[in-house]
Amino acid sequence: MHTSIRTRLLASLLVIAIASAGLLSWYFVDSVEAYGLRKLEERLASEAQLVAQLVGAMGTNDPESIGEALEAAALEVNSRLIVLDADGESIADSEGVESLGTSYADRPEISDALDGRYGAYTRFTDGGRLALYVAYPITSPGGIAVTGVSYSSAQTFSIATLVRDYRTRLAGLVGLFTIATLIIAELLARWLSRPLRQLEVGATALADGKLGTRVTPTGSRETRAVASSFNIMADEVERFVGELHQEERRKSQFVSDVSHELRTPLTAIRGTAETLLEGDVAIEDERRFLSTIVRESERLARLADDLLALQRIEGATGELPLRRIDLAIVSRNALSGLEHLLEQRGVQGTIEGTAPDVLGDPDRLQQVIANLIDNGSRVMSEGGTIRIALGRDADFATFAVLDEGPGIPAEDLPHVFDRFYRAQRSRDRHSGGAGLGLAIVKAIVERHMGRIEASDRPEGGTAITVWLPALRD
Ligand SMILES: Nc1ncnc2c1ncn2[C@@H]1O[C@H](COP(=O)(O)OP(=O)(O)OP(=O)(O)O)[C@@H](O)[C@H]1O
Ligand SMILES: [Mg+2]
Repeated sequence: MHTSIRTRLLASLLVIAIASAGLLSWYFVDSVEAYGLRKLEERLASEAQLVAQLVGAMGTNDPESIGEALEAAALEVNSRLIVLDADGESIADSEGVESLGTSYADRPEISDALDGRYGAYTRFTDGGRLALYVAYPITSPGGIAVTGVSYSSAQTFSIATLVRDYRTRLAGLVGLFTIATLIIAELLARWLSRPLRQLEVGATALADGKLGTRVTPTGSRETRAVASSFNIMADEVERFVGELHQEERRKSQFVSDVSHELRTPLTAIRGTAETLLEGDVAIEDERRFLSTIVRESERLARLADDLLALQRIEGATGELPLRRIDLAIVSRNALSGLEHLLEQRGVQGTIEGTAPDVLGDPDRLQQVIANLIDNGSRVMSEGGTIRIALGRDADFATFAVLDEGPGIPAEDLPHVFDRFYRAQRSRDRHSGGAGLGLAIVKAIVERHMGRIEASDRPEGGTAITVWLPALRD
């Protein structure tokens, strides 16, 4: 059964309260009763003994004189005193003459006394009341023979009343105790379960997708700890879900970007091919159209290559083929690979400075430099110089590609490394590539534990700087 903390607490406290109060009361009342009975018996015993001595000392069996003596003695006590002869028959009674001649010999305390022993028994009177009976043997002066019995009795009425009174009062106390326990249990349960209820509400809200839900740690140390853990968990969940959403957005953005990029060359190819199909095209136009188709197909192929390259670099889990690399050599190779392109653009390339060796994949790093030179030289006017500056910055080897172009507009700077991002200027001119170059560059640099930054040069143009962990000489 799934009972609440409140119910369980209430039930256990109630059981404890009632059981302990009941047990205590029972023990107490029992002790009082036993004490009262003991006192009563002591009194009856001393009376009986007194009378026995008195009668024994009188040395007579004369009922009259014994009766007188008894009367005198019984005046001071409120118990019944009877004197019996050696046969157990009443010869004097403090309560009158009715019992005289009656034999009490069959009573256990009397037969004890007739045997010379003290006898005491508790039992119900004929009237249904509980009474205590005490009998004491009377012996002849100095003798051993039992000449009679001194018999004393009293109802335990007063003790019973006292005990009953106590019982009622204790029952009331137990009742009060129970009510107090109920109230304490209720307060305790609330105090204990409030932070838990708050946690329950928080957890439900979180489960419902309200990821911002947090709880305030309150209550006992344990519930505080749970609340703190809950909050930490909620932080984690929120962060994780946030990342998932972001990843989701990135992916769908990527897919729509890719399809958009595919559409441009495909549209060009299709339009041109349709025109050609219609016939009726001048020979020189036909050549031009065909070369458009070739150019656009090449662009498609390049796009596919670049996407694959990006995918491979970003999704790569294995180790890069690492070698000790001299960045000057890699730069020289990149420049000579682009010799033809730079000649076309009328731009000169130079390498200056020195950098410590790094650990890396030479082909990839050459690709980085080539991409940066391609970008820079594209925006430069003829006769300019594009520089590769090697250097060192603390534990890093650096290389920067510095061009003399128009620079990157401030609003584009934070985005140039994003996939498919082209600055406003290049988009308008519809020149250059798909906007994947710098994304690939960044992915390669990060795979080398490096960092890349684009900045405007004060003297005009753009500087793209790369930091790579330097190897010790
Ligand atoms: N040196 C530079 N000077 C001015 N703008 C630059 C420079 N390098 C990059 N850019 C801007 O950043 C954009 C992104 O560059 P990126 O190399 O990623 O793409 P792309 O060169 O347009 O295409 P791709 O490299 O895929 O052929 C470019 O379109 C251009 O607008
Ligand atoms: Mg580029």
